[in-house]
Amino acid sequence: MRIVLVGPPGAGKGTQAALLAQRLGVPHISTGDLFRAHLSQGTELGLKAKAFMDEGRLVPDEITVGMAAERMARPDASEGFVLDGFPRNIAQAEALDTLLRETSRKLDAVLDLEVPEDEVVRRIAGRRLCRADSSHIFHAQYNPPETDGVCDICGGELYQRDDDREETVRKRLEVYREETEPIIGHYREQGLVHTILALGGVAEVTGRALAALPGHD
Ligand code: AP5
Ligand code: ZN
Repeated sequence: MRIVLVGPPGAGKGTQAALLAQRLGVPHISTGDLFRAHLSQGTELGLKAKAFMDEGRLVPDEITVGMAAERMARPDASEGFVLDGFPRNIAQAEALDTLLRETSRKLDAVLDLEVPEDEVVRRIAGRRLCRADSSHIFHAQYNPPETDGVCDICGGELYQRDDDREETVRKRLEVYREETEPIIGHYREQGLVHTILALGGVAEVTGRALAALPGHD
């Protein structure tokens, strides 16, 4: 199963992608997480990406597409993947179309997570991420860890992302509306889009997402 998750910052893409990937037995591929991993390892790519991420702007396509393609080419992604945060503009969507066509693969679904903007702001303000594994995502109020500042899953340290500051979040929302939302129209033309209401509990949203997938109900 090959799935793309689309939605504004804080919609719950990372949260849902991790759960869906586990359920479907395919890797969760997040370009944001890949950039953060590069950054924590101090690579040149990570340092380049940070400058854009800190301003809430998209990292240039020539950096992003190659990194995503390299991850999708690994053996664990041969049977499928859940893409989270990629593609993020029309050029990236077209690059993904080409990549899949060249390897005779197809997307099965694009899940568009819908959340009102005030809720997105609340979700981002309370988000806490695990340093050891960025798919371990918590929320100070909605999904608090048992011990303050400690990941329930692996014991790692929880932290707040640098780009979760209010002014950066505003810029990320603007970039989402201008550059990312148009990809929904691109995929609608391919008949792949399912709009998922992403309000309610995490499990409830996962249930809606699974129900929308072809062959699942
Ligand atoms: P990225 O890391 O992809 O961030 P984003 O798209 O802004 O999305 P977020 O990670 O903020 O939110 P999310 O939707 O994953 O929500 P989450 O599950 O954490 O990108 C960061 C930056 O990297 C970009 O700005 C850009 O610079 C760069 N980048 C990345 N990909 C790129 C690309 N393809 N091209 C160019 N640049 C790129 O949930 C949020 C919070 O809500 C959590 O605390 C969670 O616990 C909570 N929550 C989740 N679900 C629920 C629920 N149902 N009820 C209550 N709380 C919930
Ligand atoms: Zn953890």
